[in-house]
Amino acid sequence: MTQTHPALILPEKGSPLTLTTRPTPTPDPNEVLIEIKALALNPIDLYQRDFGLPPIPSCPAVLGSDVTGYLRAIGPNTPPSSLPPIGSRVIALASSYYQNGSPDHGAFQKYALAQYEAVIPLPDDLSFEQGAVFPLGIMTALTGWTTMDIPLNTRFTPEDKQGVLIWGAASSVGSFAVQTAKIMGFRVYATASEKHHEYIKSLGAEKAFDYKDQDVVRKIIVAVKEDGVKLYNAHAVVDGALQPVLDVLKQTKGEYHAKVVNSPALKDGHPTLEDTTIRFNYPSLEKEERDKHIKGIFHGFVAENLKEGKLVPSPNLQIEEGGLEEGVNAGLDKLSDGVSGKKIVVPI
Ligand SMILES: NC(=O)c1ccc[n+]([C@@H]2O[C@H](COP(=O)([O-])OP(=O)(O)OC[C@H]3O[C@@H](n4cnc5c(N)ncnc54)[C@H](OP(=O)(O)O)[C@@H]3O)[C@@H](O)[C@H]2O)c1
Repeated sequence: MTQTHPALILPEKGSPLTLTTRPTPTPDPNEVLIEIKALALNPIDLYQRDFGLPPIPSCPAVLGSDVTGYLRAIGPNTPPSSLPPIGSRVIALASSYYQNGSPDHGAFQKYALAQYEAVIPLPDDLSFEQGAVFPLGIMTALTGWTTMDIPLNTRFTPEDKQGVLIWGAASSVGSFAVQTAKIMGFRVYATASEKHHEYIKSLGAEKAFDYKDQDVVRKIIVAVKEDGVKLYNAHAVVDGALQPVLDVLKQTKGEYHAKVVNSPALKDGHPTLEDTTIRFNYPSLEKEERDKHIKGIFHGFVAENLKEGKLVPSPNLQIEEGGLEEGVNAGLDKLSDGVSGKKIVVPI
């Protein structure tokens, strides 16, 4: 076992991420240590690097959350039957976000700690790079359902004619929202740029609409009515999605109480709709409840559906070479310029 390892740190708020060496930690109870082989980038990494938001409790901090690698150590009292053997290839959410900002838990380093609830085997047929796209994207997509009070064991049949609207389906969260909606038996109405329509249909969308089309709201309403589908649930995945989502639901919800989950933070004075609940997409703030939720997501829904081949890596990968310092910083700069239907992954 190494005593120290390379790590990319945020030395202080607003400064660039820099490469340093950190002591390699030993896992506490209910934690594991992972040797990281690939990591994926998320908008939150960029917001934290460039604006310090959401707030970082202390610096130096280690950002990032999505990793794959080798399971190298298991902490005491961690339920052994819930993890693959040491040395296995794993997928993990390795984030300091729910760990009071502890730099031992962030993804942007060679070794990181992760809570065991968020660690599952990486299937043999997936590369480290492919596996790294899952953690935060799939967790956010699945938390979207529970935030709408829709249990993850929901399985509608075609006769139920239950529709859902996913606005921003070419994104990381949106592509997993489409895949998981399909597994749950929803008929999926999804928006994305036209060039991604065939792709999001291949993930499970029944109908795809171009959000840049001036007439997009009317077209979705017409399709839903023609299909005779009940559409009163929606995931507003990206900034600016809430208003057009509500415009659709106003015409499709009928007598049902509508529910919308919004993945970006809800702004003061955000649009509303009568007889409609709108919630920010976020797991419980209470640790015990959140850990149970995370375990249900990773050890339950994700592990089972990966094994059965019902979940695939999405969206398409954009590999950023250059390792920790060069690769992560260049990848975050590209994320800042905007990505379209791609997940940036850095092998390390
Ligand atoms: N609440 C949480 O816990 C949580 C967790 C993770 C992420 N988030 C938030 O969720 C959002 C999505 O994150 P992500 O990582 O999935 O983003 P992402 O993959 O970086 O999103 C990029 C995609 O957004 C699509 N897009 C942009 N504007 C759009 C619009 N007006 N309508 C439809 N699609 C649009 C683009 O689609 P086209 O290519 O088709 O143009 C692009 O492919 C971000 O705001 C992020 O901060 C929240």
